[in-house]
Amino acid sequence: MDCLQASHLCGSFLRLILAVGAWGLPAQAVSPPSPALTKVANIFNPHSGPAELILEPTYLVLLVSLGIFLIVTGLLVYIVIKFRQRSPEDPLTEPPQIYGSYNIELAWTVIPCLVVFVLVLVSARTIVEIQDAPMPENALKIRVVGHQWWWEVHYPDLGIVTANEIHVPTGSEDGTRRPTHITLESADVIHSFWVPQLAGKTDLVPNRINHTWIEPVSPGVFLGNCAEYCGTQHANMLLRVIAQSPEDFAQWVVTQQKAPSIPTEPLATQGRRNFYALSCVNCHKIESTPAEGVFGPDLTKFATRQTLGSGVAPRTPETLRAWLANPASLKPGCYMPDMQLSPQQIDALVAYLETLN
Ligand code: CUA
Repeated sequence: MDCLQASHLCGSFLRLILAVGAWGLPAQAVSPPSPALTKVANIFNPHSGPAELILEPTYLVLLVSLGIFLIVTGLLVYIVIKFRQRSPEDPLTEPPQIYGSYNIELAWTVIPCLVVFVLVLVSARTIVEIQDAPMPENALKIRVVGHQWWWEVHYPDLGIVTANEIHVPTGSEDGTRRPTHITLESADVIHSFWVPQLAGKTDLVPNRINHTWIEPVSPGVFLGNCAEYCGTQHANMLLRVIAQSPEDFAQWVVTQQKAPSIPTEPLATQGRRNFYALSCVNCHKIESTPAEGVFGPDLTKFATRQTLGSGVAPRTPETLRAWLANPASLKPGCYMPDMQLSPQQIDALVAYLETLN
C-alpha cells in the first residue's frame, strides 16, 4: 500500500468518525450555504474544486494529530496513575536512574520524521495539483486588491469594478467548466483571501501578485474572511462569493455595466448634490460622474450589494443611516471618517445611494 492509498484509507476512516460524532447535531454539513453575516463557513462542506482537493489531506492531518494526541495523553494518564502516591504512608522511592536509551531515542526521532515526511508529500501533491490546474480559455479573470479593511474587486475583461461581493458563474448544465481565476494584490499590509467552501487561503502581499482559483459547483452565497491579521478591523474584513448560474451571471454583468441613472426624485437629487459637495468624492468612485476617489470602495452599483462596510451589516436604509452617521458605531477604527452629517444630509445621501443600482 503506497502513501496515496494510505491517505485515502485514513480519510475515509476519519470521515466515518466525524459522521458518527455529528449524529444528532443539526444537519449543518449538508445544508445550503447560509447568507448569515459573520459565520465562518464549514470547511468540511466543499463546493468547489480546490476546496474538494484539500479536504482529503485535511482529514489525514487531523487523523494523524488525533493519533499522536491519543498516544501522548494515554501514556501520560497511564504513568500518572501507575506511579501515583497510593497512601500517605507510601514511601516516595525514586525509580532507578538510567542514562539514555539508544532504541527509544532512535524511535522518537525516526517516527516523527516519517510522519512529517508523509504529510509533506501529501500536502505538496495537493498544492501542486491546485496550483498547476489548467485554466480553460473561457475562465473568468478577476483581480482582487486587499485594503484595510475591505476588498476591491475588478473584472478587467468586463469593465466592472465592485467591492466585497464577488459574483462568479457556475459551470453550465451541459458540463462546460467555468472556473474563476483570481489574482490577488494588496494596497497596504498582508491580507489573506479565504472562502473556506471554495478554496484554501492565499495571502495578498504588498508588491507581489498571487493567484488562486475557484469553481463553485452550484449557485449559492459562500462566505469568506480575511485570514491574516491585518489590523483593528481584520475580523470585519468579510467577503462573500455569490455563485450564479451562467444566465443569472450574464444578467448581473449587464446590470453592472450600465452607468448609474441620474435620480429625479427630489430627496435623492439633494443627496447627489451633497455627495459631490461633501468630501465623499475624495474617497469613492461612481462611474460616469466626477466622483473619482479610489481610497474607499467603488460605489457605482452600491445598491445592488447585499451588505455594507465589507460585510459588517446587511445593506438596508437603517444600517446605511447608522453607517453614515458614524461609521465607527458599526466598525470601530475603520478609515471612513465621521463626517458630522446632519440628519437631513443623511436622509438625502441614503436616498441617493439607494438609487445606485
Ligand atoms: Cu485583511 Cu485581515
